Amino acid sequence: MLFSSCRRKAQGPKIGLMNVQPSPPGPTFVDWNSGEITGDGVEESVKTVGQLAGIFGDEAARQKLDPSTEVYRVRFWRPVADGTNGGLFWGATVIQPGRVGDEFFMTHGHFHAIRDRGEYYATVKGTGALLLMQENGETWSEPMSPGSVHYIPGSIAHRVANTGDEPLTFLASWPSDAGHDYAKIRSTGFGKRMVLRNGAACLL
Ligand code: NI
Repeated sequence: MLFSSCRRKAQGPKIGLMNVQPSPPGPTFVDWNSGEITGDGVEESVKTVGQLAGIFGDEAARQKLDPSTEVYRVRFWRPVADGTNGGLFWGATVIQPGRVGDEFFMTHGHFHAIRDRGEYYATVKGTGALLLMQENGETWSEPMSPGSVHYIPGSIAHRVANTGDEPLTFLASWPSDAGHDYAKIRSTGFGKRMVLRNGAACLL
């Protein structure tokens, strides 16, 4: 166990097994320059242009791109089982620079299946926009730049677009029972899109 050599020897009666807390999993490690997370149990998911049908506004432009082009990847650590009440997950997302037509590469976006669960995002590298949407479709955005920390309240859908010309990396932590509701985004989308207009990123 970590730091066991620093502990004073227990005085008095020996601690019974019933009083010993189980060791938590981990730790994992973050490279604070790159945002990469490593360690036992870190999982990874990659999303390509071919897997994001119906997410971008210009479907014809999407079909002209190489379907194997990576849009983003998520590395995540689940120290407790998915669905555990009271636990937390940790992840790092890297979104590549690029566009589908005039729309910036972005994540799929989701509500949490349990709606009142919040989340933190924190930007490590790159520039982008956090798109936020209420259930009624009202959509707004927050700028993301290295060091920006974003609190996403429960019941707010969230998606990130890379508006820069380098990979955008951000860290996240969310409740282990939050779950993901992607279906609502697939059926209704977000109320606005982050697109390139006259050389600048605009939410339209
Ligand atoms: Ni989330």
